Amino acid sequence: MVDIGVLGGSGFYSFLADARRVDVSTPFGPPSEPPVVGEVAGREVAFIPRHGADHRFPAHRVNYRANLWALRELGVRQVLAPCAVGSLKLDLIPGTFVVPDQYVDRTWGRPQTVYDDIAVHTAAADPYCPAGRDTIIATGNVVPAGTMVVINGPRFSTRAESLWHAAQGWSVVGMTGAPEAALARELALCYTSLAVVTDHDAGLQQGEGVTEAEVYKVFAHSIDRVKALLTEVIPQLPAADIDCSCHHALDGTAAESTLSRT
Ligand code: ADE
Repeated sequence: MVDIGVLGGSGFYSFLADARRVDVSTPFGPPSEPPVVGEVAGREVAFIPRHGADHRFPAHRVNYRANLWALRELGVRQVLAPCAVGSLKLDLIPGTFVVPDQYVDRTWGRPQTVYDDIAVHTAAADPYCPAGRDTIIATGNVVPAGTMVVINGPRFSTRAESLWHAAQGWSVVGMTGAPEAALARELALCYTSLAVVTDHDAGLQQGEGVTEAEVYKVFAHSIDRVKALLTEVIPQLPAADIDCSCHHALDGTAAESTLSRT
């Protein structure tokens, strides 16, 4: 049974050997690519590259709702979400893996809910899956917490924006972590972010600031480590039917009866 999903980030367009493509339709149109399903260390995993296999969807155009809906439809209950981020702290150097425990959503114009016809207010105080985070932290050489500020892009931050983000004490800055995490919560999915530092953001840099080429180059250098970590983490993730708090995200809401819990 497929119960784990991976959303590939920039430069992460394939993951599974001997994968089979599964077409899934969603109320929100097609996902970034049809999911592929394959086995990792005895667990069945579904994979979607969130930007599309050819990176045709920039962060503000990714169909986050369709991607998550498609994964859930396949049976996925735990989503692992690697993404490239800039660092807002000098000691978080390129190549560092951070498992964020908080995010700040500074995106705009992206659909924020899968419930357009009913009012559903999910809790977001602790936006990531405790079991998924614990598993990655216990397995990998990672920074075990940090706040990820999510900007809309596609441009990177100005120096002033970046200095402001850093002054808040936030750790990393990315473009895809929201509303992805919130939508996963709305689907009662466990969702765990793995932020891969590709650069020091503009406020911390001298000279030109961050460039797209730098981000892609460093992410490409980190990709084998990302895949290796995921391959170690996946068999250690708890079974889909554990009683995780994420699965109770809709309890008491108007959407409570719309999704099965396991
Ligand atoms: N993704 C990778 N590096 C980034 C940065 N500096 N700002 C926003 N998103 C990023």
